[in-house]
Amino acid sequence: MTAQIINGKDIAAKKRLEIAEEVVRLKDLGVTPGLAVILVGNNHASRTYVTNKEKACKELGMHSLLIEMQEEVSEDELLTKIAELNETPDIHGILVQLPLPKHIDEKKVIESISPLKDVDGFHPINIGRMMTGQNAFLPCTPYGIMVLLEETGISIPGKHVVVVGRSNIVGKPVGQLFLNQDATVTYCHSKTNDLPFHTNQADILIAAVGIPNFIKAEHVKNGAVIIDVGINRNEAGKLCGDVAFDEVSEKAGYITPVPKGVGPMTITMLMYNTVKSAAESLTRD
Ligand code: GUN
Repeated sequence: MTAQIINGKDIAAKKRLEIAEEVVRLKDLGVTPGLAVILVGNNHASRTYVTNKEKACKELGMHSLLIEMQEEVSEDELLTKIAELNETPDIHGILVQLPLPKHIDEKKVIESISPLKDVDGFHPINIGRMMTGQNAFLPCTPYGIMVLLEETGISIPGKHVVVVGRSNIVGKPVGQLFLNQDATVTYCHSKTNDLPFHTNQADILIAAVGIPNFIKAEHVKNGAVIIDVGINRNEAGKLCGDVAFDEVSEKAGYITPVPKGVGPMTITMLMYNTVKSAAESLTRD
């Protein structure tokens, strides 16, 4: 079998058209969705992500505010800035780019963001609401994965989903979203015994480990759906995922490439969440 490619770039473009329409509708009602992004320090990858987020806002006609802070900024200064943004009416989403410098407590920072503006979906209140199936901001990469499957017409109820990786940003929440849609979910991680035994049971396999080409053909059941969340550089400096694409795509039913797979969905869902927040602010005020 040669896998069908799930083209994240095309699906993201389609979703962005829908989001742009909603931005127009909200502007007609007098609200321009606004996103504030806080970048602390000068991490090269973080700067690239932040630039892409600003660009996406502009393309969709949204308001974006970039706040840059020095690496040495105190935790108090950062918390004060977040408190100010929590009270700023034209800002509907607040994102603090992670990772933060070591002297700043990430958990404390995340918890200081108003859950009503937590468009990353990282605040414990949003995580709890997601777990209990209530209205919540869903974390962007996991949410993007669900949209990719929905748009591809892949049914989820009853499927066995195996998640490799247990980060707070991707692994843990994506498993929960699948469970919410009646999948059977197995979590694997660096201490899992006999990883291939588990991954070979997967109808849908989520690779979110951050190790280049970690998932090989031997890990994959014939016809499985493979979602590659990795963004790595191989020894030659080329962008690659967590999945050995060439050999796995010979065996899988569907596969996301890297780039142009999951990546474009993350920022798209961030835009979606910001617009959702702006819309919800209208019914609250
Ligand atoms: N760093 C890497 N991914 C993310 C993300 O989705 N949100 C934030 N805030 N920081 C990140």
